[in-house]
Amino acid sequence: MKQKRSLLLFLIVSTCLIASPKKAIIFGVTGQDGSYLAEFLLEQNYEVHGIRRRTSSSNMQRLSHLTKNERFFIHHGDVSDISNIAFLIKEINPDEIYNLAAQSNVQVSFDTAEYTANINALGTLRILEAILKSGNAKAIRFYQASSSEMFGKAQEGPQSEQSHFHPRSPYGVAKLYAHWITKNYRESYNMFACSGILFNHESPLRGKNFVTRKITRAVAKIHLGEDKILSLGNMDVRRDWGYAKDYVKAMWLTLQQDAPDDYVIATGESHSVREFVEQAFQEVGISIQWEGTGVDEVGRNATTGKIIVAIDPKYFRPAEIATTHGDAAKAKRVLCWKNTTSFKELVAIMVHADIQNIQNKTDKKEVIQ
Ligand code: NAP
Ligand code: GDD
Repeated sequence: MKQKRSLLLFLIVSTCLIASPKKAIIFGVTGQDGSYLAEFLLEQNYEVHGIRRRTSSSNMQRLSHLTKNERFFIHHGDVSDISNIAFLIKEINPDEIYNLAAQSNVQVSFDTAEYTANINALGTLRILEAILKSGNAKAIRFYQASSSEMFGKAQEGPQSEQSHFHPRSPYGVAKLYAHWITKNYRESYNMFACSGILFNHESPLRGKNFVTRKITRAVAKIHLGEDKILSLGNMDVRRDWGYAKDYVKAMWLTLQQDAPDDYVIATGESHSVREFVEQAFQEVGISIQWEGTGVDEVGRNATTGKIIVAIDPKYFRPAEIATTHGDAAKAKRVLCWKNTTSFKELVAIMVHADIQNIQNKTDKKEVIQ
């Protein structure tokens, strides 16, 4: 009898669990991380509500493989519109909210400083306010996409959660506001609000105007005879580059803890843009020979002698971050998170994906900034 009752209880509990998956909202679902995070959460059996802003041409390319999933829903929305955000949160009643929405290009932020602040800084405030006033603030867990750009002109390396902030771009400054307002709402209202301070993370879904993807696309095109030269800005800057698929897992882990907190996510290794270029060309069997200095520097195909890399000063930034180098010890200890992809593997994944994209004609033509 007792056994039958426990079996019945077990069946009721498991049916309830199956019947009501956790619900997550992703602001910025159409971006690189949004796509990988949506995929990951669906694999964890979540009901995923992605917020897509209205654009004149489609921004759904990164989600085409998910749109048939019956637990995946797309809503129109924009983090510049608080009534829209408040409505979505009330309607969906999520367990978790991930704010990945941003004007995420550092160089563009120098030209659109006010817009970048509105979306990246105030956008975060609007979501926090909407959660606070939703009547369900204690039940909703919030993740903010903070950035290593906040460390900027770092005084120490590698940078951890304790490091000093000195952002070097309107993007970095806006992200710092978002980071602090997230912390402030956690401390003021006891909200489960966290930030992941993520260092650069890349993938075949990376926007085409970020340096890694710009390089891997150009290498693929040069290899296939569709392009001749890759033009870049400062090649001596160093970045701590990881794989986006590894990093979205850290976002989720951050919201599964007993207490809200902030975490640095990084590989702990730093490489220069120049090394990235060399490694990417190595993947297609080309060695580079460097010649000249400053804006006159060129990279030649060591076998043919042809110039395949050149410098264009238009890619230099008004202020630059020479090196980023992260210390993810806390995330490793508390979240049990680990980076699983080496620099060499990351470059290989991206170069071969771009070769395939070009061969299959799935690489749409786009002006590179
Ligand atoms: P991404 O590919 O540029 O994606 C940004 C997303 O934000 C896109 O879905 C974009 O929509 C959306 N968005 C832009 N303005 C919006 C608005 N007003 N309202 C709603 N959505 C808006 O960037 P990502 O690389 O995936 O990065 C995700 C987040 O992490 C960003 O906040 C970024 O700043 C931050 N981050 C990224 C890195 C990195 O290395 N990737 C490192 C640290 C932090 P559209 O598709 O319509 O443009
Ligand atoms: N984009 C670009 N294009 N960058 C170039 C180029 C070029 O032709 N040539 C050199 N670089 C240098 C930039 O000056 C910068 O120092 C470095 O390459 C990396 O540039 P991006 O790939 O544009 O990324 P980011 O580091 O500025 O910003 C990315 O990472 C941040 C995390 O630290 C973005 O994803 C941000 O949203 C993110 O927060």
